[in-house]
Amino acid sequence: MILEEIEKLKKEIWESFEKIESLSQLEKFRIKYLGKKGEITSYLKLLKDFPLEEKKRLGKELNELKSQLEKKLKSKEREILFKEEDKDLGLDLTLPGRFPSVGTLHPISQIIDELCEIFSRLGFEVVTGPEIETEYYNFTALNIPDWHPARDMQATFYLKNGALLRTHTSPMQIRAMLERTPPLRIVAPGKVYRCDADVRHSPMFHQIEGLMVDEDVSFTDLKGILTYFAKEIFGEKTKVRFRPSYFPFTEPSVEMDIECVICHGKGCRVCGEAGWVEILGAGMVHPEVFKAVNYDTNIWQGFAFGLGIERIAMIRYGVEDIRMFFENHLMFLQSFK
Ligand code: PHE
Repeated sequence: MILEEIEKLKKEIWESFEKIESLSQLEKFRIKYLGKKGEITSYLKLLKDFPLEEKKRLGKELNELKSQLEKKLKSKEREILFKEEDKDLGLDLTLPGRFPSVGTLHPISQIIDELCEIFSRLGFEVVTGPEIETEYYNFTALNIPDWHPARDMQATFYLKNGALLRTHTSPMQIRAMLERTPPLRIVAPGKVYRCDADVRHSPMFHQIEGLMVDEDVSFTDLKGILTYFAKEIFGEKTKVRFRPSYFPFTEPSVEMDIECVICHGKGCRVCGEAGWVEILGAGMVHPEVFKAVNYDTNIWQGFAFGLGIERIAMIRYGVEDIRMFFENHLMFLQSFK
């Protein structure tokens, strides 16, 4: 039956149409089906010997197929030409567009923001100050005289004019007290510098300083507030411990450890097998420090603390090498989105 043959032909035509990829294939296709001796043309020629009714019906069918095909071939040709042009340009215009890559705050900035938020809730004001300091603010006013060995513990970078890169954020205690009248509560995040470099130490790192001065601030306030902060940052179940320590600008002084959040006290690489990780130094403000800013020690008492931001980020995210934070590998940074 001719009708069946035409159906078969149609199927064949559309199938091979889909496979056309180049102009030469397209030309071959055109000749095969639409050329003077092409298959559609031959069928049309055949029709002349058919009875009128069938001639009309089949003629219509074949002519529709032919014009449909001609249209499709035109757009196919355009498509192929476009692609070839793209090739010349060295780009593929059919590729989807590039999404603008959305950045993220650096993990250290994220932790600083989080800490400021926690301490703001407790009534602490966020302040910042210079990274280039004088010896007076960085050491002397903090009860670390010239001869004091604590200056060596914080070996630093001196500038030609005698100024230095601050070794801790503690000079902000002095600056904040001079600029205010008590009572006061401040936290001061920022960069600090020490001659120190290995997997756990970077010559530039971040600290946040805290200071609370009031008429009846006691050691219990220090413990309560610092324990609260640790639980906010590392989770409700976090255990903390305070060990006696020494800083020239606080008396008594402590260091606070948290139970390692990675191994829960068992000992692992992150905590150096200790089960505990030191995260901050703190203590009651030394009378000599109050003297330096002219605060009456009969009225005012206070506590101060200083903690390392990278240390917190390392524990929180299980990062073992501090340098990862400053090498700016996008893969690393993007994991903090
Ligand atoms: N400044 C000290 C340090 O960098 C930390 C500290 C701050 C200790 C405030 C006590 C009080 O090690």
